[in-house]
Amino acid sequence: LPKMGCVKELAESATFVPSNYAFPTNSDDSTVSEAEEEIPTIDFSLLISTSPDQRSKIVQDLGKACRDWGFFMVINHGVPESLRKEMLDACHRFFHLMEGEKQEFEGKHVLDPIRCGTSFNASVEKVFFWRDFLKVFVHPQFHFPSKPPGFSEVSLEYCKRTREVARELIKGISESLGLEKYYIDKAMELESGLQIFIANLYPQCPQPELAMGMPPHSDHGLLTILIENEISGLQLHHNGKWVNVKSIPNSFLVNTADHIEILSNGEYKSVLHRAVVNNKAPRISLALAHGPSLDTVVSPAQELVDRENHRPAYRGMKYKDYLELQQSNQLDGKSCLDRV
Ligand code: SIN
Ligand code: FE2
Repeated sequence: LPKMGCVKELAESATFVPSNYAFPTNSDDSTVSEAEEEIPTIDFSLLISTSPDQRSKIVQDLGKACRDWGFFMVINHGVPESLRKEMLDACHRFFHLMEGEKQEFEGKHVLDPIRCGTSFNASVEKVFFWRDFLKVFVHPQFHFPSKPPGFSEVSLEYCKRTREVARELIKGISESLGLEKYYIDKAMELESGLQIFIANLYPQCPQPELAMGMPPHSDHGLLTILIENEISGLQLHHNGKWVNVKSIPNSFLVNTADHIEILSNGEYKSVLHRAVVNNKAPRISLALAHGPSLDTVVSPAQELVDRENHRPAYRGMKYKDYLELQQSNQLDGKSCLDRV
């Protein structure tokens, strides 16, 4: 098994991509395109505005973004640019700790609250991904690595701010489905919802066309809020093609995840996405994944099942069990959604 922090070390000396990091080149690359339509943008300040007209318009836009893309950029979210910068700097400092200093954070199990590692799901992979990561459960209980100095403090603040933004967006999404504003918030027990902090480092890669940063996947929670340093690399699957995301400065990149698909009975899909690498500069991204409470059993909203007079497309499952199922090697690369 590759050791944590290993891509960073590898990248410092590699002049080519080793065979256990190389994917066949006849992959999907021919289908990468610049977006023909524009990726949706949501002005968060309108969502929290007190004008009912403005709110209903933005709720409609939010619904359209979820239906057409499962992805949107959020502007005017109120989280200061200085906090975002401090956050990305702190992630950078974490990845640059000495190997020995990170060792104590090398979790093994998917439910370990602090887990530092490499690749995507290294225990089941034959070819590894060009990525090192740190994953931390930051809500309902705030866990965090004690190093480097200041990392925990800035993260606590950032997690709190993004959680507030996520809950506001989820209220809007709830209304866009014709449900009561707090429907999803209540059904998912967001007061004790799981929030996971995922920092990714994609070091410079000598042969970016051979390696992948992250495989195509959907996220397991409800909503993920992502930021990145000035380097892009996220691609979305949209209308059968991979689309490069070029983010607007200081925006949040937000995608809907599996439990929005389940709750909406498939009305909103969990968007497939992946990360590519480059040979120009290291990329750091930081995803805050917002999910239900771990013990919540999630099934499609009865209101939505009834409305179309059809059957639930997913059976109910505890979020905790879903997480374990997704990480298990029994899935054979199939989406976890096919199994619930
Ligand atoms: C992710 O899918 O969680 C992260 C993708 C990225 O680094 O842009
Ligand atoms: Fe993801």
